[in-house]
Amino acid sequence: MNIAENKILSLSSPLTLPCGAVLNNRLLKSAMSEQLGDKHHNPVPGLQTLYSTWADGGQAVNVTGNIMVDRGALGEPGNVVLDEDSDLEAFKRWTQAGTRGQTHLWPQLNHPGKQAPGFLYPEPVAPSAIPLEGEVSVNFNPPRALLEEEIWQIIERFATSARLAKECGFTGVQIHGAHGYLVNQFLSPRHNQRQDQWGGSLENRMRFVREVYAAIRRQVGDLFPVAIKLNSADFMDREFGEDDCIQVIKTLADDGIDLVEISGGNYEKMAFLQETASSERTARREAFFIEFAENLRQVCKVPLVVTGGFRSARGMLEALHDDATDMIGLGRSLVIDPAFARKVINNVHHGIHLQRRSTGFRKLDTLTMIDVQWYQQQIIRLSRGLPSKPEMSEWTALLKMCWSLGGRAFQRTRA
Ligand SMILES: Cc1cc2nc3c(=O)[nH]c(=O)nc-3n(C[C@H](O)[C@H](O)[C@H](O)COP(=O)(O)O)c2cc1C
Repeated sequence: MNIAENKILSLSSPLTLPCGAVLNNRLLKSAMSEQLGDKHHNPVPGLQTLYSTWADGGQAVNVTGNIMVDRGALGEPGNVVLDEDSDLEAFKRWTQAGTRGQTHLWPQLNHPGKQAPGFLYPEPVAPSAIPLEGEVSVNFNPPRALLEEEIWQIIERFATSARLAKECGFTGVQIHGAHGYLVNQFLSPRHNQRQDQWGGSLENRMRFVREVYAAIRRQVGDLFPVAIKLNSADFMDREFGEDDCIQVIKTLADDGIDLVEISGGNYEKMAFLQETASSERTARREAFFIEFAENLRQVCKVPLVVTGGFRSARGMLEALHDDATDMIGLGRSLVIDPAFARKVINNVHHGIHLQRRSTGFRKLDTLTMIDVQWYQQQIIRLSRGLPSKPEMSEWTALLKMCWSLGGRAFQRTRA
């Protein structure tokens, strides 16, 4: 196929969501945790700098790094929290900067469940009292199972954050249902072994996410974009697999969700940050989760974003033209080059090469989540109005992280 000659669908084609909102093009900046909250977990001014840069970048939507719905349940020291005690004026300054040029700015709303470091959230809650496994488990305390009334309280917290987000000038919201956090924990038969209406059958396991969505929708109304990021599969034993995921997406589509972002993995298995694709076919097509998206498209036409691995205009256009997805999600490329979206829209031959980050010590890389740390240091540079510094060594990134976190440096952070 000659991509340049295909005039039917391009990266700059607008997309209308079920709620009626129109996105200017097919590119979305995926959530990347900034850890730029102040000591009261309000946004620092650097977030205005960062998101005005990304607003100028060319993508239709910028999704913020995860924002916590409960200040008693943090995942990282620098988390921003959006609740009744938040400084809404600080959020308004952020949204004003981040929506310039009619760019959409959506907060990613999250509750970590048990996937939060012990020093921050000593008594984590989860659907069931099942600890995380493997190398990562040293950083997390075993959770206790949520009581029914606590489940309803958390659902209301998501709804409150969404209402406040709309009041503050965000133009949509995204529920974080991926990467092993609370919503994902409820969906997983491995992490959710409850015997009540919240566990067991898939219908019961998806009750939490459906109630979160319904509570948000009641607060923000029918015309406001409500999106979700979901795992295509959990890549673990007794996983939340692809068939389950398709059922969940079909149900949420019937409920009225506006946009589904597809990712995969969790802290036990970091599929969303892989640099090698799971099959040769996937590798050829750049994106990690594209084959799942194609299977999903056979049975569900909900607007879709596929995130993870896209590095060239050609790969993105192929995914659109194959009707594998409606939108392309971009993460690390937009950190290294905040103008990357504009460049791929304007030049079908444009691309970027991102190397896998490593200290040379696999265990250290895993324990520190070196990829996330390195990119987070680059995000901090952008928030100070500086360009990214691709030549920064992994050791420098780790030192900077240690400096800012002190003794807590080797605890895991969020992705
Ligand atoms: C520094 C960093 C922070 C991240 N934080 C989040 C997050 O808060 N929420 C989330 O859903 N994904 C997070 N991710 C995952 C990205 O959204 C995205 O799924 C991943 O980087 C793959 O896309 P890419 O290959 O285009 O980078 C993070 C990734 C990085 C590198």
